[in-house]
Amino acid sequence: MADKPSRGLSRRSVLTGGVGAVMGGGLLGGVVGGVAGGAAGFVGRGALDDDDEAIPDWRTVADSRAVGAATEPFHGARQAGITTPPQAHAAFVGFDVAGGATRAEIQGVLRAWSQDAARLTTGRGGLADLEPELAEDPARLTVTIGFGPGLFDALRMTERRPSWLRQLPAFPQIDQLEDRWSGGDLLLQICADDPLVVSHAARVLASGVRGVAEQKWSQRGFRKAVGTDPSGRTQRNLFGQIDGTVNPTEDVDADQLLFSDGSSSDGSSSGSDGRAQRWMRDGSSLVLRRIRMTMDTWEEIDRTSRELSVGRRLDTGAPLTGVAEHDPADFGAVNEVGLPLIPPESHMARARQRHRSEAMLRRPYNYDDPPEPGEMSSSGLLFTAYQADPVRTYVPVQRRLAEQDALNTWTIPIGSAVFALPPGAPEGGYVGQGLFEG
Ligand code: HEM
Repeated sequence: MADKPSRGLSRRSVLTGGVGAVMGGGLLGGVVGGVAGGAAGFVGRGALDDDDEAIPDWRTVADSRAVGAATEPFHGARQAGITTPPQAHAAFVGFDVAGGATRAEIQGVLRAWSQDAARLTTGRGGLADLEPELAEDPARLTVTIGFGPGLFDALRMTERRPSWLRQLPAFPQIDQLEDRWSGGDLLLQICADDPLVVSHAARVLASGVRGVAEQKWSQRGFRKAVGTDPSGRTQRNLFGQIDGTVNPTEDVDADQLLFSDGSSSDGSSSGSDGRAQRWMRDGSSLVLRRIRMTMDTWEEIDRTSRELSVGRRLDTGAPLTGVAEHDPADFGAVNEVGLPLIPPESHMARARQRHRSEAMLRRPYNYDDPPEPGEMSSSGLLFTAYQADPVRTYVPVQRRLAEQDALNTWTIPIGSAVFALPPGAPEGGYVGQGLFEG
């Protein structure tokens, strides 16, 4: 364990190389000492200001080591990466199974992914890893494996496909879907608090599918860096909105809504459908929508209009009828001329649950890619919704939003994919194993 840096250390002493001496040996001491000594000439003026001991210097914060060392368990009844507190970085990688791939080969990929994920999430290189050093600090890496509808055709096991596992219906009012961001037979969702870890894990895992599947798309996303908002407040999207406030919490028993109980979607565990889906017990589903956000036109409207479009304040994320982020919204409240304070066409008024079965877990990531030719920006949201049954939960909400949602003026769905997320793997087992058994 690295020694803790002295609390009373001033920035000046760090920059003059004092930190190496104060911190002594250990990883942090070595790294920070080196950075401090070497970087002194590059540090901006702010750091040279007079003693500002109250502000910890990022290079001396002992917790920076904790970020890299933290782990999330890979094995368990449920896959990690669903209810796991969101990490700062994510990659979603979609694959199509190659024509002619056999069931045994596909099983081999799933086995290899699980073996490598179990190693990578504990800081060890993958089995055929050429750069195991890149795996040393897992930074809460999670690897979540998903099955698209086409996988069951490739396996010739269509009777085992969950009845809800199909692409979403078209929403012609809003959709401008592109094939390059849509569909996929297999999914890897890779999340970690360090983008280097995400890249390395994606590389190691993707190279294990050669000949059996081909990468169809890869989408990278980010949230705020760890430690930048110690309040633990919900993340902000690129419109500046606090995004992810209304989500199932542990105090509401969200289990049945997020995870399958192994019965068919109509609730029966008997009958051929019920039996066929028992392998999905403790599994979930992911709806991934790539939604472009048109920053330029959004920035043309004033702040009040921006707040009215969602029904929440931009600064605190509070509903327009409240003061704090988690205050309940009062959809009946009106102003002095009788107009609703939260417009009925606002995003939250349209998206809010009409029925308990509509509770989904949202875990969005922002994207900000190089603009396409002729465009100013290519930014948006990798919108993710997890639920036991997307046909029951997601589709009615999406249908309402497609019909009317003030946000639609500035948001365009350009990618769409649905995956079954099988239950987690036990030690020594692999994700999806239950599909091939019984
Ligand atoms: C780029 C597209 C989107 C943006 C920028 C966006 C943004 C937001 C924001 C700022 C909130 C309010 C804070 C919160 O509760 O998280 C919200 C709420 C919500 N959004 Fe979205 N959203 C988008 C797309 C979607 C989609 C596609 C769905 C599902 C079909 C959805 C479902 C919801 C739900 C269920 C809520 C909670 C409503 C409530 O109960 O108050 N959103 N969204």
